[in-house]
Amino acid sequence: MNVLITGRLPDAVLADIASTCAVASNRADHPMPREAVLQQIEGQDGLLCMITDTVDAELLDRAPGLKIIANFGVGFNNIDVAAATRRGIPVTNTPGVLTDATADITFALILAVGRRVVAGDRYTRDSRFQFWAPFHFLGSEISGKTLGIIGMGRIGQAVAKRAAGFNMTILYSGRRRLPGETEHALNATYADMETLLAHSDYVSLHVPLNEQTHHLIDAAALDQMRPEAFLINTARGPVVDEAALCTALENRSIAGAGLDVYEHEPAVTPGLLSLDNVVLLPHVGSATIETRTKMARMAADNLLAGLAGQKPPNCLNWDTLYDK
Ligand code: DGY
Repeated sequence: MNVLITGRLPDAVLADIASTCAVASNRADHPMPREAVLQQIEGQDGLLCMITDTVDAELLDRAPGLKIIANFGVGFNNIDVAAATRRGIPVTNTPGVLTDATADITFALILAVGRRVVAGDRYTRDSRFQFWAPFHFLGSEISGKTLGIIGMGRIGQAVAKRAAGFNMTILYSGRRRLPGETEHALNATYADMETLLAHSDYVSLHVPLNEQTHHLIDAAALDQMRPEAFLINTARGPVVDEAALCTALENRSIAGAGLDVYEHEPAVTPGLLSLDNVVLLPHVGSATIETRTKMARMAADNLLAGLAGQKPPNCLNWDTLYDK
């Protein structure tokens, strides 16, 4: 079987795939250019792709023999799953293994923006720390505040568990309400978006990107947030209207934001770069050695199962493909 792997994998995982497949792979640690992917996909049986690859009809038409698309990532908005399904191709992702790492980075952003950690670091490095003073570098308390979680799936729930350690009140909203016992265990109260936005000190986004969630946080939603509130986004950039966010931050109609993802990633709305009430990370939610190794292993297992004609462990469209 021939497979194309568009991003760098740990050597051991790559070796496992190469033991049974002829591998074309991008060994560099940067995205494979679209043109190269389009050229190299021809004649492939399997594709292990990165979240930076757009897997659309144009690409799929070049690989009529493709038997499996294994995404290296839990978010799969980069893949036209419907187009793959129409061509009978299973699509997989990597759920679960990056839950804790992403929840951790969410909390890192809450703490960083609330307590002005990055600004304080810059100030100290610039040798501007000359005295201690009672009103110096005042931030916003995290402990005891209200955290609004939009999207209470695996990652949202992992964030709620961490928030319990900070004695936070938890509101959540999302497509589905959790069972009573889960709400109770997480000490989380279901709220509509309007209530959540109006009452939260920290609003954290954990929804997938799709038509329903595109610009879920727009100018109107930002207007509903309190001037003391912070927005945290570790989900997908286009969930937030970044231009509207930039305006809200400039006007201080919200207190700040912590962002790991961007609407036009890797581009960042230029206005954000000069603001001191925003902390910006380069999409590193799952970037720990442990998590990325597990993601690679999971993507490889999905790939190999698909090539063998078996149901891949993390298939997104199996039921639709086989009408179960
Ligand atoms: C994912 O898996 O969707 C993440 O965004 C990668 O960090």
